[in-house]
Amino acid sequence: MADFVEVDAPDYAAHFARAKTLDELQRLIEPLNVVTGWGHGPHTRSAEPHSPYLTYVWRYKECRAALEAASKLISSEQAGRRILNFRNPTPGNTLGAARTLLHAYQLVLPGETAPSHRHTAHALRVILDGRRMYSVVNGEKTLMETGDVVLTPGGMWHSHIHDGDQTACWIDGLDVPLVSALQIPTWEPHPNRYEEVKAVVEDTPMRFSHATIQRRLDQASRDPEGYFGKRIRLEAPGMPTLGLTVARLEAGQKTRRWRTNANTSFCIMGGRGVSFIDGEKIEWSFGDIFVAPTWRWIEHHIDEDAQIFSMSDEPLLRWAQYYMFQGE
Ligand SMILES: [Fe+2]
Repeated sequence: MADFVEVDAPDYAAHFARAKTLDELQRLIEPLNVVTGWGHGPHTRSAEPHSPYLTYVWRYKECRAALEAASKLISSEQAGRRILNFRNPTPGNTLGAARTLLHAYQLVLPGETAPSHRHTAHALRVILDGRRMYSVVNGEKTLMETGDVVLTPGGMWHSHIHDGDQTACWIDGLDVPLVSALQIPTWEPHPNRYEEVKAVVEDTPMRFSHATIQRRLDQASRDPEGYFGKRIRLEAPGMPTLGLTVARLEAGQKTRRWRTNANTSFCIMGGRGVSFIDGEKIEWSFGDIFVAPTWRWIEHHIDEDAQIFSMSDEPLLRWAQYYMFQGE
């Protein structure tokens, strides 16, 4: 029969009983890599959603001038992308207009191209200023001009070509901060550098042309409750994290106040006005972009007929059954 050496089990009770105060116990607990649920831990409890992110506006005129200056100093080939990515100035944030949303301005000179690539993040472009540009998404080549919204869902090869003769500028919109938070970003160049064009198409689910958007807005009626004006949804089943809308608001119109726990951005496709985000006044005009982080009161006062493209994480919140909306 084997000899057994009996080893005393550690006396956990005696170990923690040495603590005579909560502070002493806290020190003994630390090696366990747990966080106590008493005292002022990192847990925050609030009956309402809250976000430290700041309401913020990026100015098209300012950023475009900076990009024009960059275009004299660096080619798009050297730059990869001649882009200004937005960074919400919330302390600690390094990239992203809001917690889940990224926007950027991109300047493209005549003749410039972007080789085909694909990435995890869902992306889109709102064309502020451009003629005779083309986008190739999954082998389909389509025109991309002022007032268009073009989708490049995650995982789809895409590239662009500028065949026009004037400098072009667009707004990029992506869910990059969400993808980063999930630690799943990928980015891959196409093995042939440019994906073969299999078809040239006019109508595609990847492009909402200026004309299509205007026709649908013409047919839309104002929302009966007065929060959004005439508003259409741009269907993007391939990119279900992002909700996309375009609203048409008339001079003199004032929307009722509303708030949502969805992070929301507003890109001004035309017109002029003022918005109040939790009472903070933002004056805006063509090309400007501002963000309302979660649960901020939003209202728009329109000075000149306006068109506002909006991007939010609303579908994601709805899918998770987290979505909240409140109107006044
Ligand atoms: Fe891309």
